[in-house]
Amino acid sequence: MVSPRSILKAFAAIAQEEGVGAHVRRSIGTMKQRNFPPFLMLDHFTVQAPAGFPDHPHYGFSTVTYVLEGMVAHEDFTGSTGVLRPGDLQFMTAGKGIVHAEIPVRTEDNKPCVGMQLWVDLPQELKNCDPLYRDLKREEIPIAKPNDKVTVKVIAGEAYGVKSVQNLAKVAVDYYDYEVAPGGSFIQEFPKSYNVFLYIMQGGLEVNGTKMAQYSAVFFDRDGDAVTAKVPESQKGSSRFVVIGGQPLDQPVVQHGPFVATSREKIYETFMNYQSGQNGFEKARGWSSKIREGITEKDVKAQEGEQRDEL
Ligand SMILES: *[C@@H]1O[C@H](CO)[C@@H](O)[C@H](O)[C@H]1NC(C)=O
Repeated sequence: MVSPRSILKAFAAIAQEEGVGAHVRRSIGTMKQRNFPPFLMLDHFTVQAPAGFPDHPHYGFSTVTYVLEGMVAHEDFTGSTGVLRPGDLQFMTAGKGIVHAEIPVRTEDNKPCVGMQLWVDLPQELKNCDPLYRDLKREEIPIAKPNDKVTVKVIAGEAYGVKSVQNLAKVAVDYYDYEVAPGGSFIQEFPKSYNVFLYIMQGGLEVNGTKMAQYSAVFFDRDGDAVTAKVPESQKGSSRFVVIGGQPLDQPVVQHGPFVATSREKIYETFMNYQSGQNGFEKARGWSSKIREGITEKDVKAQEGEQRDEL
């Protein structure tokens, strides 16, 4: 028998406007929940061209970006480029430093791009590793269907006997995207030592008799080996939510925007490294992305055509 974890805390994420065509529902990384080690931030974002996240640095942590609707182009100072389409993810370890741009692709209908971005802290001994990233395409993600009410995309980890692609990032986190129909329930196991939370993108959930509304983040205690919840029978459509877990780190978190270290001195040093283009930020000198002013679906198709011709 698996024992369910109890709720530590739950609240609904409030939308913050981030300029024209962009808003973010941040759950982790707010006054309500500064962090939840190893997790530093979770944003449920909606962004529409010409808004976007042009050239900016990162240090000392990893990001997991999951695109739900629309397309996001990315480009970093090592010369890597790519496009994430609905259902695709990118795992990026910033390590000792990276500068990159993430820009929504302007499509014919200019629909906004919607997704989730998770920030995961790196253990002190990996903070100065070389930057690393990989994309995970929708087709690579196995799906478990334990019954006719439950579908889970096994992005990272194992659900109902279905295992994900392995070694996605330097530091493993478990990541599941669940869709559960009214009257359905799920149970997801995690290692006992992991911190686990879920975030509801659509619909509601009932966790141990407590109703959780859309956009709620639910944080669990480490008092069991699984999390479980159900979707009320009376609800109109299905619910969709991500369930995420990771090994907590026993180290201080000192964060200054996109730089995350374990001491103030190291933050100061990283800031100087970025300013002067050294110790990991050499390639930042004089670099600017091609996509920072925007990118259209036509540009993407042309680029992909060129890449095919080179093969
Ligand atoms: C469920 O809630 C009850 C109180 O309503 C509490 O006594 C019990 O510990 C909870 N169980 C879990 C696993 O959260």
